[in-house]
Amino acid sequence: MRENEILVREQLSEVVVKFVIYKPLVAASARAGQFVILRGSEKGERVPVTLVDWDAQKGTITVIIQSIGKSTFMFNSLKQGDCFLNVLGPLGVPVETKNYGTVAVIGGGVGIAEVYPIAKALKTAGNKVVAILGARTKELLILEDEMKAVCDITLPCTDDGSHGQKGMVTDVLKTAVQGGEKIQAGFVIGPIPMMKFTSLLMAELGVEPYASMNPIMLDGTGMCGCCRVTVDGKVRFACVEGPMFPARGIDFDELIRRTGEYKGEEKRAVEEYEKDHQCKIGLH
Ligand SMILES: Cc1cc2nc3c(=O)[nH]c(=O)nc-3n(C[C@H](O)[C@H](O)[C@H](O)COP(=O)(O)OP(=O)(O)OC[C@H]3O[C@@H](n4cnc5c(N)ncnc54)[C@H](O)[C@@H]3O)c2cc1C
Ligand code: FES
Repeated sequence: MRENEILVREQLSEVVVKFVIYKPLVAASARAGQFVILRGSEKGERVPVTLVDWDAQKGTITVIIQSIGKSTFMFNSLKQGDCFLNVLGPLGVPVETKNYGTVAVIGGGVGIAEVYPIAKALKTAGNKVVAILGARTKELLILEDEMKAVCDITLPCTDDGSHGQKGMVTDVLKTAVQGGEKIQAGFVIGPIPMMKFTSLLMAELGVEPYASMNPIMLDGTGMCGCCRVTVDGKVRFACVEGPMFPARGIDFDELIRRTGEYKGEEKRAVEEYEKDHQCKIGLH
């Protein structure tokens, strides 16, 4: 086995791929809430992805990647036996996984994969774990069985009603709390507007909200300032102080603005990649 080699490649949906990678040093020290930065080639972008799982004995880590732009599309075209050029990590601050009592873990889209290790660690810490999993449609709702295996209650929902409750994660959270679940803390990962509205609702329902920030990152080590977010009026670097933050004071609107700054360049990069490779990117 070679360092950074893809040992397993599994297509989870049309646009989401799971990779098990040989990376013993990262597997030996990974903790829930941390991430790695991947690079595919010398001129390739540095792409942060969450450590979804790891096995220190086998020396493997698991990442789950959604094709959304040029780099993630290139990664998801890699095959078993191929190698990433770099796998840098573990990075970021692990999530504090103490016993809160009852907790909610809320994932949207590929955010379900990102919240999975946190659910597992919170269960190990003795919490009752309620998982709320949201996706646009049944086909895109990933890891439901894996979540069921580590959570006490798993509540799927889809925008179109093709699986689970019809509606959004906020509807399901409200029903669960109004139905008597006494949730002390909630951890949400997904698209930024979803994290914003879920965090606001949690605060309103008396659930302490935490959200994982996904600003654009470069070095991932606190030097470039690219990943800055504003929390409680203070500048914080998501790569070394997060990515999970108490969500009450997060300036989500600034995050939405900053992550959208390169939309034009990102669109052009995808179009050029599609032209060169004559292939189709599911989300565009
Ligand atoms: C801590 C963290 C953990 C993440 N975990 C996962 C994960 O487990 N699985 C997954 O599929 N995605 C994850 N992401 C998001 C992933 O990094 C971006 O989807 C990816 O960088 C997009 O690159 P691209 O070239 O394919 O798309 P682009 O077309 O370049 O960008 C598409 C969108 O992705 C975001 N993005 C672009 N570049 C970066 C960057 N360098 N860092 C962060 N966001 C960027 C922007 O919002 C942009 O609009 C995570 C991001 C962060 C910050
Ligand atoms: S990515 Fe450079 S400081 Fe966080």
